[in-house]
Amino acid sequence: MSKTILSVEDLGISFGSNHVLKSVSFEVREQEVLGVIGPNGAGKTVMLNILSGILSPTRGRIVFLGREISKMKITERTRMGLGRTFQVPRPFGNMTVYENILTGGVYGRKIAEEEAAAQAKEILALIRLSARRDDLAGKLALLDRKRLEIGVALASAPKLLLLDEAAGGLTNSEVAEILQIVREVKDRGTSVIWIEHVMQTMLEGTDRVMLLADGRDILCAPPADLMRSKEVGEVYLGAEADE
Ligand SMILES: Nc1ncnc2c1ncn2[C@@H]1O[C@H](COP(=O)(O)OP(=O)(O)OP(=O)(O)O)[C@@H](O)[C@H]1O
Ligand SMILES: [Mg+2]
Repeated sequence: MSKTILSVEDLGISFGSNHVLKSVSFEVREQEVLGVIGPNGAGKTVMLNILSGILSPTRGRIVFLGREISKMKITERTRMGLGRTFQVPRPFGNMTVYENILTGGVYGRKIAEEEAAAQAKEILALIRLSARRDDLAGKLALLDRKRLEIGVALASAPKLLLLDEAAGGLTNSEVAEILQIVREVKDRGTSVIWIEHVMQTMLEGTDRVMLLADGRDILCAPPADLMRSKEVGEVYLGAEADE
C-alpha cells in the first residue's frame, strides 16, 4: 500500500456552542483522491480551512509529510506542499489568467519569475486555458474561473491539493472537464481531497470517499460502496432509508 501523506487525528472545532467538528480522523495516501461528502453546514469547508491554516482547531492533530502542522502558518503550509481552491473562486479579476498563475508560483513557492513562467505555461495547458492566457480573469465564465482556481492552486506545486466544490454549479459536460483535470493532477503524483456535492465527480473521480456528518467521519470507503451504504441513506434521506 502506498505511503500516507496526511494523517488527521481526532480533529475538532467549536464556534462558541456550535460544535461543528467533534472528532474527525482520516488519512490520505500518496497519489490518492479522497472525496468528501456531507450535508450543507456539515463542516466540510471548515475542515479545509483548518487544514490550510485559516482556522485553528480546538482539538486534534494534523500530520502532513511527517510533520505536525496544526500550529504552522498558512504560507509555511503552502511551501510544504498544501494547495487549495475556494468554494467561491476568487482570482484577481483585473489581472490576466497568466498573471494570476504566475503570481501563485512566485508567492506560493518563492521561485524566480523565469521558472514560474515555464511552470505557468505547463499549468495553462493542463487546465485548458492556454488560449485564454491574456484574458482578464474577471471576464471569465464559470467553468474557466473554476479551471483558473485550480491552476492558481497548482502554481504552488502542491503535494496535496484541497478542492472545495471545484465542480459546483457546472453542467454535466463541464463537470467532465474538471474530472479530467483532476485525473491529470493525480497522474502527476499529487494527492487530492475533493469536497463535492456533485455525485458524478465522487463516483468517477475518487479512490475513496468520506462521509462527514454530525461532526464526525461517519464512514470512509470506495465510492460505489459508500454511495450504497446505509449510512449515506440515513444522512441524506433520514428515516425514509429504513422503510
Ligand atoms: N469562521 C466561522 N465562525 C463561526 N462559525 C463558522 C465559521 N465558519 C463556519 N462556521 C459554521 O460552521 C458550520 C459549517 O460550515 P461549513 O461552511 O464548513 O459547511 P459545509 O459543509 O462546507 O457546507 P456547504 O456544503 O454548504 O458548503 C456552519 O454552521 C457555519 O455557520
Ligand atoms: Mg462548504
